[in-house]
Amino acid sequence: MSRILITSALPYINGIKHLGTLAGSMLPADVYARFQRSRGRETLYICATDEHGTPTELAAAEKGQDPATFCAEQHRIQHDLGRAFGLSWDHFGRSSSPQNHRLTQRFAQTLWEAGFIEERVTQQVYSNADRRFLPDRYVIGTCPHCGYDAARGDQCENCTRVLDPADLLKPRSAVSGSEDIEIRGSKHLFLRQSLFAGKLRTWIEGKRAQWPHLVTSIALKWLDEGLQDRGITRDLEWGVPVNAMDWGPNPEGQLPDAAGLAGKVFYVWFDAPIEYIAATWEWVTSRAKEAGRDPDDAEWERWWRLPQASDVTYVEFMGKDNVPFHTVGFPCTLIGVNERLEADGAWRPSENAPWKLVDQLKGFNWLDYYGGKFSTSQQRGVFMDHALELLPADYWRWWITANTPETSDATFTWEQFRDQVNADLADVLGNFVNRILKFTESRFDGAVPDGGSPGPLEEKLEADVLAKLRELTGHIEDREFRKSATALRQLWVLGNQYLTEAAPWTAMKTDPVRAAVAVRYGLNLVALFAKVSEPFIPFTAEKIALAVGEGFPGRWPDLDGLHLLRTLEPGRKVAAPEVLFRKIEETQVADWRERFGGPEQGAESA
Ligand code: 2FM
Ligand code: ZN
Repeated sequence: MSRILITSALPYINGIKHLGTLAGSMLPADVYARFQRSRGRETLYICATDEHGTPTELAAAEKGQDPATFCAEQHRIQHDLGRAFGLSWDHFGRSSSPQNHRLTQRFAQTLWEAGFIEERVTQQVYSNADRRFLPDRYVIGTCPHCGYDAARGDQCENCTRVLDPADLLKPRSAVSGSEDIEIRGSKHLFLRQSLFAGKLRTWIEGKRAQWPHLVTSIALKWLDEGLQDRGITRDLEWGVPVNAMDWGPNPEGQLPDAAGLAGKVFYVWFDAPIEYIAATWEWVTSRAKEAGRDPDDAEWERWWRLPQASDVTYVEFMGKDNVPFHTVGFPCTLIGVNERLEADGAWRPSENAPWKLVDQLKGFNWLDYYGGKFSTSQQRGVFMDHALELLPADYWRWWITANTPETSDATFTWEQFRDQVNADLADVLGNFVNRILKFTESRFDGAVPDGGSPGPLEEKLEADVLAKLRELTGHIEDREFRKSATALRQLWVLGNQYLTEAAPWTAMKTDPVRAAVAVRYGLNLVALFAKVSEPFIPFTAEKIALAVGEGFPGRWPDLDGLHLLRTLEPGRKVAAPEVLFRKIEETQVADWRERFGGPEQGAESA
């Protein structure tokens, strides 16, 4: 049986995430991880905060904090919110960890010594007032094309033309507003990605049958446009220092200009994906610490290096904007460290143990808010902290999963959220569990009834449930989240239909044995629902499991169908849980629309 390694794109450290971030990486990864664990597979789900880069430095400065303090605080907040949403990461790491520093530097050194990194001098904007180099988008000025006076150095928001900071008229620093800026040469490392185009194309073409069309089309588009070499260092303070002091010569015999590179850090997109591996190392380190022993590299390497990891299926989850970095950037790093580019241009495999590349890559479209973007600055849309102040996590988990932006962008509206939560969770699942358990309490002394034999209604129920269960299992296995939610809802509906037809409350008067059979089947359905709902709505699934005396989390049911609805032994004590879902009222919707923004504002900013 294969092991499953799961990563979801690392959320940026600055700011609490909105529902779109949950929808487009962390939540589907969690549903999948919970499902795989419940099937008994050895599963590792890794995530972390993505902490480096200019936006972090600026956000920290805005709060009057140094980046390290800012990141430590924000990491804790994101960690706690993720847990409150039931995200079952095995480890939620930090890209600023010592492990990531070590690995990032080691990868870069290996790539240098293998001939895949080159030094170049680039011209960049330096702000004397801010005493720092400014990334393109932190230079603002007047657009030479349309005259817009707050155009960014990478692109004019007004006419959308792509710009170079040198194009701007009256350029100034976006940090301080100072016009005292100049162009300076600065030495940087470039990853020679263009050399990898052929290898990457063959690899990606080979994935066509397994990866969603969205993913391969984005990846191949990048290759079709011509793969550019990429600057992997920056003139910043907060990041993984380049530290090229002890690097050996490249195949042409050159050493890096350690002095010229001093004081620079790696580009955030170079170190962030490496954090997937480093976070696994962090996980091993923290577990070893808890157990009072030394960490063993073999424990994390068995997930990431071949041949030990040859039984691992590695699955990545991310929004569509992240696809190029995961199909091109990160694979270049991982392939490159396992090769050597000889001075004559030939590639030779190195003796290093190869790293595991992604097997399954699930990319998502956007979830937006009333057809417009979620916006932190305009306070539009629902963010993770506010969401949990309004309603328990499962309401959100259910709606988001049922509306996963898979084949196209999806939009959140309060009205649709209310309708779907009320219909699926309150009317179908909640009502079913409540009806059968209340009835068992009042008429069967709160115990699973004995006696009677299944009739045609139960035989049909078993067949229908088995078919739906197989469908549900297949969809999650295929990472089709909308379809999974539909199948799960249909499974719940089968329960309600059965109870309505079997009508134990009526049978009770004329044929109590028949009623006992119906109640027993109803209770078995409850136990089944707890197991198969756990990946989607884990908090409620636990309450349901406890109501019928089941352990939690349970094992995913066997698909052979034997005993599917015959697992609860007669006589077992059961008890109705507290109300599982309260219906969302119109007055609440009106309040929330007012507070978080509604359709009117959506139309403006769309
Ligand atoms: O787009 C983002 O939110 C990035 N922070 C994702 C990084 S994913 C990985 F490569 F680290
Ligand atoms: Zn313009």
